Amino acid sequence: MTENHATDLYDAVNNWGPSDDFFLGFVTTIPGARVLDLGCGTGGIPIAAAKAGCAVTGVDPHRPSLEAARAKPGADRVVWIDGNSRAIPASALFDVALMSSNVVQEILDDDELARSLADIAAHLVPGGRLAFDSRDPNARGWEAWTKERTHKMVHLPRGDSQHWYQTTYVNEQAGVVDFCAHEIGPDGIERVESGPLRFRSEDQLRAMLHEAGLAVDDVFGGYHGEPVGRGVGTLTFTAHRP
Ligand SMILES: C[S@@+](CC[C@H](N)C(=O)[O-])C[C@H]1O[C@@H](n2cnc3c(N)ncnc32)[C@H](O)[C@@H]1O
Repeated sequence: MTENHATDLYDAVNNWGPSDDFFLGFVTTIPGARVLDLGCGTGGIPIAAAKAGCAVTGVDPHRPSLEAARAKPGADRVVWIDGNSRAIPASALFDVALMSSNVVQEILDDDELARSLADIAAHLVPGGRLAFDSRDPNARGWEAWTKERTHKMVHLPRGDSQHWYQTTYVNEQAGVVDFCAHEIGPDGIERVESGPLRFRSEDQLRAMLHEAGLAVDDVFGGYHGEPVGRGVGTLTFTAHRP
């Protein structure tokens, strides 16, 4: 699979949805906010926020995703940085920071996530706010990642593809779940990509925010203010730098 195709596929499978509305709403409550999007991926939220008048910096270590972001209409309004939280320019200050669509789950190592949160805290102004989401392990979302339940057709520039997810490994104690994303393209060839995710509990994430010097404001179970356990199986955190 070419990198272009992989990022096209990511965008086609992950259409704009309620989580994107939540994160965009979070940053646009402050007119002209300076926004840091850590783990910005293919750039949908940063470009929408820039179009809404925010001054946005998008940071991501996955070069093909950043290339896809840079090629989108409106991308020239965003500052794109290739790297992790260490690549945030030393003097940069932000009113709002995001890690949207479960970026924290792709950061498997606790020390790396702790460092990312500390870097965010260091670059937020006092009162500056952070929002991120992470799937709630209590919701056991991985049990639904089967071909039967996730199979769909996606429309891509080079033709229609079939796409589905399949969980391949679960270690609940370690909070590690591995899964494969399957695609059968218009050429009939099946391609499989796998990638582990960390599932951290609400208490673990609260403790990590506290350690980073960030104060938790809310934890929702979805993207419309639902309590944890009654939403869509997520832990949606908002926090601020005191
Ligand atoms: C599921 S994607 C979400 C992308 C985007 N935030 C969105 O809303 O579509 C997770 C992103 O996290 C990025 N990522 C992984 N490890 C990271 C790290 N240590 N620091 C920042 N981003 C990271 C990946 O490269 C990927 O683009």
